[in-house]
Amino acid sequence: MCGIVGYIGRNEAWSVILEGLKRLEYRGYDSAGLAVLNNGTIDVRKAVGKLKVLESSVKDNPPAGCIGVGHTRWATHGRPSDENAHPHTDCSGRITVVHNGIIENYLQLKSRLEARGHKFTSETDTEVAAHLIEEYYDGDLASAVRRAAKELEGSFALVVMAQDEPGCLVGARRHSPLVVGLGEEESFLASDVAAFLKHTRRVVFVDDDLVVSVGKNNVRLFDLQGNEFVASATTVDWDAAMAERGGYDHFMLKEIHEQPRALRDTMRGRLSSELDRIDLPGLNLSDDEIRNINRIVMIACGTAYHASIAGKYAIEELCRIPVEVDVASELRYRDPVIDDRTLAIVISQSGETIDTIVGLREAKRKGAKAVAITNVVGSLAARESDGVLYTYAGPEIAVASTKAYTTQLMLLYLIALYIAQVRGTIDESRAATLRAALWELPSQAEIILNDYSEVVKAAERYYCFNGFLYMARGINLASALEGALKMKEIAYIHAEGYAAGEMKHGPIAMIDPTFVTIAIAVQSKTYDKILNNIKEVKARSGEVIAVANTHDETIVNYADRVFRVPQTEELLSPVLVAIPLQLMAYHVACNRSPNIDQPRNLAKTVTVE
Ligand code: AGP
Repeated sequence: MCGIVGYIGRNEAWSVILEGLKRLEYRGYDSAGLAVLNNGTIDVRKAVGKLKVLESSVKDNPPAGCIGVGHTRWATHGRPSDENAHPHTDCSGRITVVHNGIIENYLQLKSRLEARGHKFTSETDTEVAAHLIEEYYDGDLASAVRRAAKELEGSFALVVMAQDEPGCLVGARRHSPLVVGLGEEESFLASDVAAFLKHTRRVVFVDDDLVVSVGKNNVRLFDLQGNEFVASATTVDWDAAMAERGGYDHFMLKEIHEQPRALRDTMRGRLSSELDRIDLPGLNLSDDEIRNINRIVMIACGTAYHASIAGKYAIEELCRIPVEVDVASELRYRDPVIDDRTLAIVISQSGETIDTIVGLREAKRKGAKAVAITNVVGSLAARESDGVLYTYAGPEIAVASTKAYTTQLMLLYLIALYIAQVRGTIDESRAATLRAALWELPSQAEIILNDYSEVVKAAERYYCFNGFLYMARGINLASALEGALKMKEIAYIHAEGYAAGEMKHGPIAMIDPTFVTIAIAVQSKTYDKILNNIKEVKARSGEVIAVANTHDETIVNYADRVFRVPQTEELLSPVLVAIPLQLMAYHVACNRSPNIDQPRNLAKTVTVE
């Protein structure tokens, strides 16, 4: 996610902005910039790379002035470059914008603005906002921002500065965070309070579809129709470290809670809001190429590998194409059967995992087309694949992957639906049902995140148990494997994910009163079978936690405890099932392990064999 800082006050803006951007570095970025207004002139500085690059270019010749905007960019549209770094300006250079979010309809707006003579200098969606505000600017910046915001679709937190209005900054937000800091003779606008906590703890949180105009000593809030609201300030008692984590104790918990937003952002611009079509230009495959595919090979490690297992079930069911999944560290050495009719789907949060990259290169060497699913723009996987689809999860700081996993699943479902429709292997009613169910997932994830007290209570009971067995059937085998990995990597407890039908072939020997079994028992064609598996465990005095649907009244007769998730299509249920399992591992670990975000022996990205 990008970081935004705006400042208006009594100090030199450039140093306050740089300091604020440093407090937002945890959000991850690949370029940075700032702009300061002084005596009717806006001085813009930008640099690819870390803030120290920008700082060294600014310090020698700092831009004078007490009002300015700054930005750290996490690239989504347009590679990391000076031109694509924010701030962006309009044609005249009189209006300057920084932005966090994804403007979904930027291409349509850009062509309309170009037709009206606007000249663009970047590949970004953000620059459209600067030119749109220019269109509406008539001396009242807040009004121009309101009118522009009404035309933007997607997510945005904007901070705008105008050469002719040195007494105010204007902000607007939808789905991306924006907060106002109220200091003494100075005010701030930022993505989160961490940017200005050193200066003030008095904060106004800006709600969706509101525009805020901020002066040194005043703040005014408007809706998009121009109606003014009273801005109510609160005082935050977080320290700086807590502020970086958005008030959560750990980045992992923050990122678990970010999943509804991350899922919406990953769907945005791909699943139409009318739910009638899917667009995946990043796939970079023609319809003929899609029809020519006769096998798919998934290449991934760890959590991404678990996502690929779910992807296998979805693609085989919907597209009727055989899908082979294998951990990349095995695939790269076993001379896999791949040719020019194979599609390789490479999944990697970082886009840099060495085994995955080598597996990608091996697949391409053998003639396959490769599509990457990754969270990092410009990563190796993105650069070396023929097509790339980005998860818009934002930087994932915790080593234990959570929001990257569920957004990888989201993209795999979109790919499966898209390929199935091109190949005609799914009828429209089934496709429409699945599209509608996909659309609901973020809201259903929010329901889970609104109350998981059962998970917290279970963690308090089971954190000292010797081991966990996660069992499931069908596509939720992926959930069982992923749930076990989370428990292993942050709570350091032995845990295994298993196909429930395999219990009698060995694992059932492990069951005893000190062993916990987590059974994925959401509504499915094998629901009765999983109930029988639960009975087998109970008959051997094993404790069972079931993950089941909200209105399931049967499960309480079988399991000791139940984690509830809203009902969705079985094929899509891993997205929801993942959340209580992430939370269970997190809360067990909180009772056992001192370091949740950086577990012992692990790195966020494995770039060496
Ligand atoms: C997952 O929680 C782990 N951090 C690890 O298994 C990770 O998924 C694996 O290293 C792959 O990383 P990547 O997605 O960046 O390629």
